[in-house]
Amino acid sequence: ALYGRVERPECIACGLCQMLAPDLFDYDQAGIAYYKPDRNTGTKALDDQATIHFRLAYKRCPTHAIKRSDHPFAADPYTPT
Ligand code: F3S
Repeated sequence: ALYGRVERPECIACGLCQMLAPDLFDYDQAGIAYYKPDRNTGTKALDDQATIHFRLAYKRCPTHAIKRSDHPFAADPYTPT
């Protein structure tokens, strides 16, 4: 399985991920991205369709702030409020 999330301190609010995968990424009030399906905890596995969109955003993020893993992520201190 594939899990994703945004390492928010590395996001420069470029907006690309939300454009490429609007079902997966959104912004907080400061314009910093978070991973929408599980509020950026990186604990909900991507299904096949979402994986295609995720990969597009993952590859294009200019600062590599989007992270992926084969396992659920540990708790994220940067989960948006
Ligand atoms: Fe931020 Fe990268 Fe998205 S810089 S807005 S996480 S494409």
